[in-house]
Formats: sequence, C-alpha cells, structure tokens
Amino acid sequence: MTLQIKSYSEYKKVYKNSVDNPEKFWAAQARTFTWMKKWDEVVEWDFKKPDVKWFVGGKLNITENCLDRHLKRSGNKTALIWEPNDPSQPYKTYTYNELYEAVCQCANMLKANGIKKGDRVCFYMPMVPELTIGVLACARIGAVHSVVFAGFSATALADRIKDSECKMVICSDYNFRGGKIIPVKEVVDDALKQRCKSVETVIVHQNSGDKVKMKKNRDKWWHDEVPRRRKTCPAVEMDSEDMLFILYTSGSTGKPKGVVHTCGGYMVYTCFTFKNVFQYQKGDVYWCTADIGWITGHSYIIYGPLLAGATTMMFEGVPTYPDAGRFWHICEKHRVNQFYTAPTAIRALMAQGDKWPSHYDLSSIKTLGSVGEPINEEAWNWYNEKIGKGKAPIVDTWWQTETGGIMISPLPGLHKVKPCYAMLPMPGVQPCLVDADGKEIRKKEAEGLLCIKYPWPSMIRTTYGDHERCRQVYFSAFEDKYFTGDGARRDKQGMYRIIGRVDDVINVSGHRIGTAEVENAINEHPQVIESAVVGYPHDIKGQGIYAYVITEGEIADPVAFKKSVHEVVTKVIGPIAKPDKIQIVPGLPKTRSGKIMRRILRKVASGDMDNLGDVSTLLNPQIVDSIKSSKDEAV
Ligand code: WTA
Repeated sequence: MTLQIKSYSEYKKVYKNSVDNPEKFWAAQARTFTWMKKWDEVVEWDFKKPDVKWFVGGKLNITENCLDRHLKRSGNKTALIWEPNDPSQPYKTYTYNELYEAVCQCANMLKANGIKKGDRVCFYMPMVPELTIGVLACARIGAVHSVVFAGFSATALADRIKDSECKMVICSDYNFRGGKIIPVKEVVDDALKQRCKSVETVIVHQNSGDKVKMKKNRDKWWHDEVPRRRKTCPAVEMDSEDMLFILYTSGSTGKPKGVVHTCGGYMVYTCFTFKNVFQYQKGDVYWCTADIGWITGHSYIIYGPLLAGATTMMFEGVPTYPDAGRFWHICEKHRVNQFYTAPTAIRALMAQGDKWPSHYDLSSIKTLGSVGEPINEEAWNWYNEKIGKGKAPIVDTWWQTETGGIMISPLPGLHKVKPCYAMLPMPGVQPCLVDADGKEIRKKEAEGLLCIKYPWPSMIRTTYGDHERCRQVYFSAFEDKYFTGDGARRDKQGMYRIIGRVDDVINVSGHRIGTAEVENAINEHPQVIESAVVGYPHDIKGQGIYAYVITEGEIADPVAFKKSVHEVVTKVIGPIAKPDKIQIVPGLPKTRSGKIMRRILRKVASGDMDNLGDVSTLLNPQIVDSIKSSKDEAV
C-alpha cells in the first residue's frame, strides 16, 4: 500500500530520505502498484533539454491500478458518487465493479469506432459520470484524452482539437448549470466547422433529451454505441513514458499550450499525494468540487482517489443553485469527510452570509482543501470557523497543471497549520527561491521566484507538438531548474506562502488566463486598434480582468461598447475571459523597444497610482497622466 505519513516527525524523516535518496524513495512508492513489467531505472533527467523519464522501461496500465486492482477486495465499495445539478433528481453511484464494467464497455466502443493506442480523443462535456468513464476508457486502450472545459467557446475548442489532431470528440447534447441549459452539441458543431479535419466521429451523450442535430456518418449516440459492448476489455500495455493525456493551459504568451503527462510517474505521484494531503481513510467520502476540465479534476477527482481505492464524488452543478447552501447540503447528504474547493467559491459563499452553512450538519468533515489561487485571510478564517468549526485542518495546496499533482501543502492533523501558507514541500519535491539574477536564495526567511530543482514523477514532459516551447517557458529562465511562474515567501521555519503569478498570467476565479490571449480576442473587435490586459484585485474572483483599449474613433456609448467587447471575447475564448473593466485610452505606455510597460498599467488598475515608479524611460511618458486621469471613466 502507498505510504501514508502519520506524524510530523515521520514527515521530516521521510522528506529527508526522499531528498537524500530520491530513487530509493520513489521506487518504494512505485512498488505498491501493479506493473506489467518492472522498470529498469527509476529516473533519468536533464532539465536542459528538458528530458525527464520516470520508471524507465516499466510497463503498466493506469486503469488496472484504478479499477482491476481493487475488484477482489473492494468490488462492491462505492467508487463514484454523482450528484446532479437539480437536487430533486436522484444521485447515482457506481461501485468499483460497476465502474470497471462501464469503463470496459466504453473502451470497447472506442475500439469499435477505430480508436487505437496513441490516438487523441477530445472531451467537451459537463460533469456527468460518462466523462470519468470516457477518460478512463481512453486510458484503458492507450488513447490520449484531451478534456476541454465545457465553458470554452467553439473557436477555443476548435483550436485545441486541431492542435492535438483529435480523431474523436465525446460531448453531451446539453449541459445543465444552475438554472441554465447550455447547448453543448451546438458548440461542437460550430467548432467542427472550423477545419477540424482530424475528427471522424462524434459520440453524443444524451443529458437532457431535447433535440439536437446529428450529422450522418459522423455523429452517434452514446446510448446506441456503449451499452451493447462487452463488459470486459483487456488493459493495453503502456510504457511508463507513453502519453496519458494532454491538457491545455494558458501561459504568458501565445495560444494555450497542451501540457503532456505520461503514465507511470503521474500514477505514482497522484496516488501518493492524494493519500497524504487528504489523509484519506478507508470508508471516507471525498469530494473535490473542481471541474474535470481542469487539472484538479483530472488528478484529484479521477486518478488520485481511484488509484487509492477511495470513494470520490462528482457534482454537476454550481455552488449557488438552487441556493447558496448547495455545497453544504451535499456535504450533509453524503457525509463528506474531505472537501476540496477553490478560494473563489469560498469567498462567493461567504458573501452570502453565515446562515447557509449553519443550516446543515457538517460534522462529517475532517479535512478542508483549497486550491487554484492564493487564499486571503478572511476567506481562510471563514472556511476554518464556519465550515470546519475549527476542527478540520485546511490544506492550502499549491500546484499547477504542469506539476500534475500537489507540490506544497500542509499535512492535515500532523502539525499546526499556518493560515494562508501552503507550508511543506511534499516528499520528493525540492523547491527553492531564486532572486531576479537567478541565484538561489539560501537564507531561510526570504522572498523570491519559486523554482523546483529536482524532477518529480508527475512533472510536465513536453508541450504537445512543440517541445522547444516547453524548454523555453519552464526550463530556460534559470539553469537546471523548473520555473513555476509564481512568487513565494519562506518563513523562518522554512514554510512556504505563495504570493501569486509573476508573469502575464491572470488567475480569475482560480482559472488561468493569459493576458495575451485576451488581448488577441479583444483586438478582433472592429473598433479596437490595440489593447493591453492586466489583472487587478477583485473581492470574489481573486483577480479581475482589466483591459485598456485604444479605439478607432470616439466611442459614444462605453457601456454598449463593453457589451460588444464581451461578445467578441466570449466567441473567441469563452465567458470566463470577459474583462471586468474596460478603460478607453488614447495610447499605451511603451518602452523604447515598443514593449507595453504593464507594471504601470497594473498599478493604475489596482488604484495604486501614487507609486508608479520611474516612467522617464518610456517612449511616451505623458500618456501615463492621461491614463491616470481617465481611470474613473472605466466601465
Ligand atoms: C495558482 C491549479 C496560491 C498559482 C492546480 C499557480 C495557487 C496556478 C495555489 C496554477 C495555492 C494554485 N495558492 N496560488 N494553493 N494553487 N495556485 O495550472 O499561481 O490551473 O501557478 O493549476 O494557480 O493553475 P493551474
């Protein structure tokens, strides 16, 4: 069984061993899984290229470890609980046996439709059990899943389908979110009109039953295709370093990139961190509220919990439907023991008042988790007092799409937690802080750029189709280090607190959005000449999107203009990237080399205008005053 650390002194011992002798440490963890062939080498790495391989030469199938391995002893244990959007509808459960059969049937459907090992399959679906089943079915036969968050637009979906040349798309007809019903299939149809030549088949899961158009010879219903298949399907032998999935994420420049994760290391690391960070005990019910369209859903709704033989829950809806008590109602209803969510949800629910959690019995909760963005003290305290009743430790887990699993986190119940601190590196993780010159800061109490100086099993292997980009973005800033893009502080005890992104990535409600992407979208508006986008502090979302826009001609009605910009951004990216504020400006502050000086724009957007620093090096210093003075006109 995967090691579960039981005390702080044990953590310290394990951590030291994991750094002194990483290969021995990770080999001991890997040995607890089912391998078709044992690995020859634990790790081979070179951050310069980068070239990282874990459990080299090992053969396995991750679904054998998520499913088959548990059947003998826990086949009748609940693997998955699904809670629908509408609380008056019944919830569903799958035992490990049932999930195994469902995955095998779906895997046989994939094969029957021509999907082979290495082919890419795109998912564009709401949070329904079929999404988990489909993802695991891909892994069963060695197909690569690429899940796209169902809030992205047709154009964004098409970009992702084209980049990874998906052969199949699996979607639903409609998606229920709160009181809304979203035409998912229609978005897929629109996307596929945008030259997605690789797609041969679309499998449509019927979620609502309302009519949708089906294209002959391309579109097939899930209910016609899946249930008639055999309930067993051999697990395909995969190399440790074969691709498991692609997940697109935003960076500072250009289009979103497809982060690639591979089979062996990802399996070992997500299971290990799940068991330790949540201190999951047999019989517990674990609930992560993330969407499977993001990495948190991949690693800590599907893979980590199922690898550990846990009961994991999926929720279709939103925290405020039918009312702001929904999360707490679900916790009471299913006696949830570990609850994992994002600060933005906590802040939104906190704003609705204490009466909501006080209506429900939350006594089952043992551990609370936070992820996706820095948690502010007010939200931390509310979560601790009103949800955890001061008895459930909060694990503020820091990690990224690229890291595959949780990197820095408290271990609940093993030590006192420090509010707003992610605290401890996981065993095997070697973080460091570097200064602007790239020198590692040795002093314990310090602030700097967060890097990782030794590989860990679930780290990014490449960016799909563009390895050079992976090197450039993550491994070129500092020699022999992975650069996270985050800034962090370290206290006297060596505990980490994450400050946030230091690059041009904004974190809106825990969603990563690249400023360049939003700018490109805004620039498609016919009246826009140029734009610059920055983040600014937002009470609920953590960060909001602030856009400075140079327009062609005078804008008579700024509110109508904002609406039209929203339409363009929604079309190009999706509603999550809509700017919260738009300020029309006559120009943008630029350096002599023509680069926009975002530092100034960030400060103005945050209202921190007295302290803009030196602007004399600008090509057009006079523009700064004009931007400052028209700030109040932002809509
Ligand atoms: C931020 C989400 C502070 C950080 C798992 C990181 C956090 C980015 C935390 C990755 C945390 C994530 N405290 N900031 N506990 N967790 N972040 O790829 O800026 O969607 O770089 O992965 O979210 O976002 P991603």
